[in-house]
Formats: sequence, C-alpha cells, structure tokens
Amino acid sequence: MSPARSTPGCPPAAEMVRATSSLLLLLLLSLALLAPGISARKCLLTGKWTNDLGSNMTIGAVNNRGEFSGTYHTAVTSTSNDIKLSPLYGTQNNINKKTQPTFGFTVNWKFSESTTVFTGQCFMDRNGKEVLKTMWLLRSSVDDIDDDWKATRVGNNVFTRLRSVKE
Ligand code: BTN
Repeated sequence: MSPARSTPGCPPAAEMVRATSSLLLLLLLSLALLAPGISARKCLLTGKWTNDLGSNMTIGAVNNRGEFSGTYHTAVTSTSNDIKLSPLYGTQNNINKKTQPTFGFTVNWKFSESTTVFTGQCFMDRNGKEVLKTMWLLRSSVDDIDDDWKATRVGNNVFTRLRSVKE
C-alpha cells in the first residue's frame, strides 16, 4: 500500500484528524470548566439597594409565598417634613420561579400621609449585576375631593445593590 499522499502546503490527513480531535478535546474541557458559570444566576430582592435619587432600601427574606417586608429611606420628599425611615411590604411573583422575577411593594410613609406603590422587575444586566427597574405611583393626601386630579405623581427608579465596604 502506498502512504497517503498530501497536497503540497497542506498537512497530511492523519495530522489534520489529530489536530481536529485535540481542538475538540480542548473545546469540551473548556465547556466543562465554564458550564457552572453559564447557568443563569437568579436576581434576588433580598438585601440593600440604592436608587438614582439616592434613596436606600433594605429588603428582608422573601418567603415561599413570595412575600417580603423591609424599610425605605427616601432621599427626597414632596413635603416639608423631616424624612423618617418607613416600612415597605411587597410580593414577588413566584409562579414559574423565574430568574428575573417581577414584584411590587408599598411604602407606608411614616413622616407624611402619602403612600407609594412600586412595581418592577429584578434583572441581571449585561455585566451580570442585579438591577431593579421600577415604576412608582406616589399618592399624596388632599383635603378636598376636587384636588384628587393632582394628588398622584408617577415616575421610575432604577435600583442597584448597595455593597458593604467589606465585600
Ligand atoms: C412624600 O413625599 O410624601 C413621601 C416620600 C416620597 C418619596 C418618593 S417615592 C418615589 C420616589 N422615589 C424615591 O426614592 N423617593 C421618591
């Protein structure tokens, strides 16, 4: 039998097969190493958050029904009152245990007669960082029903995780 002939400038067939299988092996190895990191990380509400206005909030554990509570320290107010830490109560949608869940919470302000409801979604951004994209309705108290039309403000806030200095 005559040995396999190779075109000038091209590696012989056996060499090509060896190179391809080494490349495949390398690919499989790197996949095996990277696989745990590839699995989608879940966006979790629990923890300390800060928003684009400089307000801070702390969300406690989310229970198996999706309920949570926490505290909100707003950086701004529509009133002239001194700002006080206020409680929040909310729920996270757990129906399909999504990695980027939707949620809603209410802040019962302790220094004004207003109430704010937030609704949003907990996202993993392109850099793998958690971000809460929210919209809110701030209901102020008015004494006259005729002022109802101007009693509700609407807006949006983006929250990112507040990390402790140690982390
Ligand atoms: C009030 O002014 O009566 C209570 C404080 C409201 C603060 C609002 S809630 C929506 C927006 N996002 C914040 O972080 N603070 C303001």
